[in-house]
Amino acid sequence: MSRGLGLDELNHARREGRGILGAVAYDTVGVEAIVTAGRRSGRPIIAQIGSSAFNHVDAGGLIAAARMIIERSPTPVGLHLDHSRSLDEIRRCLDAGYTSVMVDGSHLDFAENVALSSGAVDLAGSYDAWVEAELGRIEGDEDRSTAVAGPGGLTHPDYAARFVGATGVDALAVSVGNVHGRTRTPAQIQLDLLAELREAVDVPLVLHGVSGIDGDILAAACRLGVAKFNVNADLRAAYLGAVTEWARKPPGDDLVGALRLARQRMTEVLTDLIAVLDPP
Ligand code: 13P
Repeated sequence: MSRGLGLDELNHARREGRGILGAVAYDTVGVEAIVTAGRRSGRPIIAQIGSSAFNHVDAGGLIAAARMIIERSPTPVGLHLDHSRSLDEIRRCLDAGYTSVMVDGSHLDFAENVALSSGAVDLAGSYDAWVEAELGRIEGDEDRSTAVAGPGGLTHPDYAARFVGATGVDALAVSVGNVHGRTRTPAQIQLDLLAELREAVDVPLVLHGVSGIDGDILAAACRLGVAKFNVNADLRAAYLGAVTEWARKPPGDDLVGALRLARQRMTEVLTDLIAVLDPP
């Protein structure tokens, strides 16, 4: 039975210079791939189900199914709400058993971001859940690759220290050149800035936009205080690529075969990443 994924695990990963993968799922095929990857690697992993998935299925039904799949995992699997701008949504997910949430006030000014993120910390205090927040602005779209790499609004170390102190968040998503989605040229991760951020704040850092980033850079980020790494676009591409490939084979309507291949391909993407972030 999975015991979820608590803050202790995240802090432990930071101390050890290892990374935990936060992988986005839109349906139970994705959740099964995540749980399978965690089990095969013998490592903790986080399933991230958020607003985009809730827009296309019954949210309560998907969450209940995800929890059942996760609870059977022999290795720790967290259930995390990614990029939420709404305290109502955060409360609903905490009520539904999420083990962590990300409050995203990066579109707000500093004071408003502090207020929203503090609200999430207060809420999560009544549950056994931890809170990730974002400071700075990570470019790109969370559900489709827009193919332009830009530095976004980089996270300033002084503001990061003030932000963590003022809000009490447990983990901080930073903008250090990372971009959501695949890009034509690789996003340039500013490792010097990561090193400064690690010195400035005493909580695990989170790197969003892992798709397309070189393994050496990810491994270096682990050593610079990043304990959670978010991946999505590479999983979407693996899923859609598998379904497209299978649909071309006769008889062209074997949906079960297509979904099986999609799950396998996503599991491979995840196990390869875990091997980089958390080598045996
Ligand atoms: P990618 O889509 O670039 O992998 O980023 C995922 C992410 O950061 C989810 O929050």
